[in-house]
Amino acid sequence: MKDTKVKELLNKMTLEEKIGQMVQVAGDIFLEEDINVSTGPLKDLKLSNEMLYNVGSILNIMGVDRVKKVQDEYLSKSRLKIPLLFMADVINGYKIAFPIPIAQGCTWNVKKIKKMTQISAMESNIAGVNVNFSPMLDLSRDPRWGRVMEAIGGEDPYLGEIYAKAMVEAYQGEDISKLGNIASCIKHIAAYGAVEAGRDYNTVDMSEREFRQYYLPAYKSAINTNAEMIMTSFNILNGIPATINKWLIQDLIRKELNFKGIIISDYSAIEETIAHGASENEKHAALNAINAGVDIDMMSGIYANNLKDLCLESKEIEEKVNQSVLRILRLKNKLGLFENPYGNLDKEKEKTYIMNKSNLEETKKLTQETFVLLKNNNNVLPLKEDKKIALIGPYADNIGITGSWSIFSDRTKNATILEVFRERLGNENVLYSKGTEILRQDEINKILKADGSPTIFIENEKEKEEASIKEAVEVAKKSEIILLLLGEHYKQSGEACSRSNISLPENQINLINELYKLNKPMVMILFNGRPLQLNNVENKLDGILDVWFPGTTGANAIIEVVFGDVNPSGKLTMSFPQSVGQCPIYYNHYNTGRPHTKDFRYMSRYQDIPTESFYPFGFGLSYCNFEYRNLKLNKNVLKEKDHITVTIEVENKSDCAGYETIQLYIQDLFGSVVRPVKELKGFKKLYFKPHELKIIQFEINKEMLKFWNSDLKFVAENGEFKVFIGRDSENTMEKNFFTK
Ligand code: GLC
Repeated sequence: MKDTKVKELLNKMTLEEKIGQMVQVAGDIFLEEDINVSTGPLKDLKLSNEMLYNVGSILNIMGVDRVKKVQDEYLSKSRLKIPLLFMADVINGYKIAFPIPIAQGCTWNVKKIKKMTQISAMESNIAGVNVNFSPMLDLSRDPRWGRVMEAIGGEDPYLGEIYAKAMVEAYQGEDISKLGNIASCIKHIAAYGAVEAGRDYNTVDMSEREFRQYYLPAYKSAINTNAEMIMTSFNILNGIPATINKWLIQDLIRKELNFKGIIISDYSAIEETIAHGASENEKHAALNAINAGVDIDMMSGIYANNLKDLCLESKEIEEKVNQSVLRILRLKNKLGLFENPYGNLDKEKEKTYIMNKSNLEETKKLTQETFVLLKNNNNVLPLKEDKKIALIGPYADNIGITGSWSIFSDRTKNATILEVFRERLGNENVLYSKGTEILRQDEINKILKADGSPTIFIENEKEKEEASIKEAVEVAKKSEIILLLLGEHYKQSGEACSRSNISLPENQINLINELYKLNKPMVMILFNGRPLQLNNVENKLDGILDVWFPGTTGANAIIEVVFGDVNPSGKLTMSFPQSVGQCPIYYNHYNTGRPHTKDFRYMSRYQDIPTESFYPFGFGLSYCNFEYRNLKLNKNVLKEKDHITVTIEVENKSDCAGYETIQLYIQDLFGSVVRPVKELKGFKKLYFKPHELKIIQFEINKEMLKFWNSDLKFVAENGEFKVFIGRDSENTMEKNFFTK
């Protein structure tokens, strides 16, 4: 309807109805037989029934029948028939679980990421989603933080910017009311990935310059791509919780970035400002949040139970409420919900589109590009089909290969590695033994206890583990090659999954050590939601293929890569540390006055481990051998409005075809503030036929050299620069140039 009608509707609303629009609750309450029996977190919100039927949006209800039932139930009691907004966490797919976002980022393939996002948007839109809490754009440098699994851009601002734009475009299309388009709610603003010590919800404190240089670009890119919504983060930013941080929301997001969309708090984050010690009580929390500019209170009763009094005490507050409600009504209008409260719900399509074969095939191809080949000594991979293979490990026959945010997909639909191997090679050629659990029971019990679930005691666990490893060794003895399927439990990564130890667990290491004694070729397929510390197992392995949590099509994707039908091409978007003691670790660091270029004591280094990362940003092997040579610049002085053309020759020296991602980095050797040793400024992912030589060009212009200086101006300063071209952030060729 016309905007004038939206304003008329606003004017008809009572204060209670307006405030209700600014409240979001978990939607299952409307599915309860008796609405008065609100359970779980809802119980604590102390919402009246009247308020409940005024709320503006709900969380994580999907499926045609459920969405229709909730909307009907709600509208039947809504005086002005203002439809509910359905918002959800479709983080990496709805029914088709895609690889986790950090894995998607390792494709360095913007088109493929857009495709995954579009399939996920279509599936969820058919099932009732209007707004999706994605993409998560928090720059992530610390693998102790469990949410790095959601970080599409990893540790790099440039990748973050590119992926942010691509995903918001893929979610929203040209018109968010059209089938397959959903509003994007980007998160978590701001700098949530910088929580101290990688401990979730912890303090964030940094200079505004650092924030603008590294953490802001991805958020800004999404806002410039017209993302409809922003979610504030749990953390404080320089002393003030992001959710009530006026500088962040009003000065930066609203004024400087001109964001006109809706600001929603994260789950109970407004109420948590009391625990932070930034709000004195509930009413003060409501005042702080409305003054900062939060439009929707997710799952805390703060707005519902305090905004009315604040409005009665202050016309100014009531005006802010009006502005918030107008933004919310406008989004509902843009989604076409006033004309059709069911949005693009479609029972028929729910049956025919969701999990359809062509999307699953497409997903498998996308998934294969997320895999990162970390080690491949003596070309142990791809495997030959005539070898007797032993599949050993807790992930060999395990459907739990989707990430912790795959909350809507049906894991029972996932094939296992063992199934697909036996299908391809015949049962007699594929030996199998579990070897050990993913985790010992005491580790699992820590997770269960924290979730309020009953813990489990295993009788004689140690003896059982030893026996299981012995049995695996006996099975492996009959094989010609051992394929280890190991890694993290999917409940060890994601929200509230910070870990102080990011090595493989002792039981899995024991299994590797025992199998190593057989002196047979050994390849590890690694399932993980974060960079792991592998320095205590890597030397025992001939090959390592990191498949992250590959999702619904994971098993079929893996077998085709393992046998070389598909050549792996993934490149890391987060550095793997030598040790957790190095974290946070990232490639675009500063040089310091004592760079660790040599192992002299008085340098910025560690006594006990190498200072470099174990696997660097941008790293990933291929079955092909690519040779880089003849780096050339067409000039070495860059003037205003001009550009330098960089040329490199890359030759595929192999009989196999494959993709290579050629990366361009730049270093500003001297600046009014120190500048990183390298910054990614471009990349090209190209397909090479066997023995194909390509001459690849990049352009460097002055815009690429800009940075935030100490006056918080975004400038390029003249001087000397280095350009690096390579297969990752360390293995590069370099040339110098100047700007005038
Ligand atoms: C969670 C997460 C956020 C998610 C929201 C709704 O606490 O921090 O990423 O979108 O709540 O589930």
